Amino acid sequence: MKVLLIGSGGREHALAWRLAMSKKCTALYVAPGNAGTEDVAENIHIKAEDTAGLIRFVKDYEIDFVVVGPEGPLVTGIVDEMRALGIPTFGPDKKAAQLEGSKGFTKDLCQKYRMPTASYARFTDPHDAEKYIGAMTLPIVVKADGLAAGKGVVIASTHAEAISTVQDMLSGNAFGAAGASVVIEEFLQGEELSFFALSDGETVLPLTSAQDHKRVGEGDTGLNTGGMGAYSPAHLMTTALQQKIMDRLIVPTIDGMKAEGMPYTGVLYAGVMVVAGEPYLIEYNARFGDPETQALMVRLGTDLLDLLYACATGMLKQFQDKVTWSSYVSLCVVMCAKGYPGTYLKNTVIREIDQADRQEKVKVFHAGTARAMSGEVIATGGRVLNVVAMGENVAEAQRRAYEAVDLIDWPEGFCRRDIGWRAL
Ligand code: AMP
Ligand code: GLY
Repeated sequence: MKVLLIGSGGREHALAWRLAMSKKCTALYVAPGNAGTEDVAENIHIKAEDTAGLIRFVKDYEIDFVVVGPEGPLVTGIVDEMRALGIPTFGPDKKAAQLEGSKGFTKDLCQKYRMPTASYARFTDPHDAEKYIGAMTLPIVVKADGLAAGKGVVIASTHAEAISTVQDMLSGNAFGAAGASVVIEEFLQGEELSFFALSDGETVLPLTSAQDHKRVGEGDTGLNTGGMGAYSPAHLMTTALQQKIMDRLIVPTIDGMKAEGMPYTGVLYAGVMVVAGEPYLIEYNARFGDPETQALMVRLGTDLLDLLYACATGMLKQFQDKVTWSSYVSLCVVMCAKGYPGTYLKNTVIREIDQADRQEKVKVFHAGTARAMSGEVIATGGRVLNVVAMGENVAEAQRRAYEAVDLIDWPEGFCRRDIGWRAL
């Protein structure tokens, strides 16, 4: 099978690493990939957003299967385009990707199908929003409806801040068209986890859980980022909680989407707030999490290509109760360029990645990297490397991960030193 994977982050390196292990995989291309995906696949110089370029490529190279990593191309309909060519594609089509592409769409679905989530209202008019905000208790959660690169959520601690945030969003100043509609919702106090499930539109399979660290600072403080680390499974996950998440959120969502005439296929990533042991939906993503996927892929026992292909072709039932996971805990530390998530230096040289990668029960994935003409690996993004380790418990996985981090020679990089702290 000739496979095309779309994307360039650590998530894609982790997926590529597992896809390439499959006996059925005869060729693997990553568009555009990074310096790490080059080790397991061939990088193709086509950006994830370049739909026309990707279509040309799958035709020219007679690709048999497409896997979409990031949300951007899903929301703009890459899956519809590929399926129109008759190519099985992993990921939801444009309509189903609204679960990530429109926060208001998801909230309305929750309401219609009675799924537990924060109470909310949707607005396009700032005066109506102001009236609603006036009656709310603090803090108040304000969300841009559309994709905003993880920056579209503001937790306002005063009514005035909530109102000015709404004005910024609705005026188009903050997020352009993504802010033309807002969701205002109740603040839920609890602990978050990420839960992943697969669906082919009919069958729903639970995968596993993780907990990520979105803030740049230790103790989960400071600015929001794309994710500074993760571990899997989440410490607060239990069999009973997983069943509640499946019964109250995932299954009603898949059934609801089917009833709405837009069956969901692909991975459904639920951001769940656990309040006094009960799960509430914070948001859905229509793709694998980053960096959660890096932690998931080292634990997966099942052939990833078989699994994703079955998901894309309506054959997921074959895998019912058959997906296996290592009983080990995995933990991923994200190494970033100093300055991230603000401005940061680019093209700095990173050395000794291989030495870290050779450590027992350690795997290093690349995110924002490229190979310079000199052959050296250079940092090209904010989130640059993902050091993943496994252990019998979080403490052991964490120790191994940081030992490997410390072998990497990159003076211009930094990482949080407390990934996994909530489980310790
Ligand atoms: P993201 O959408 O990934 O940028 O992150 C949004 C973050 O805001 C979530 O991970 C939560 O930590 C927080 N959040 C979103 N909605 C709520 C809510 N209703 N109550 C409490 N926290 C929330
Ligand atoms: N880990 C957060 C995300 O993938 O959106």
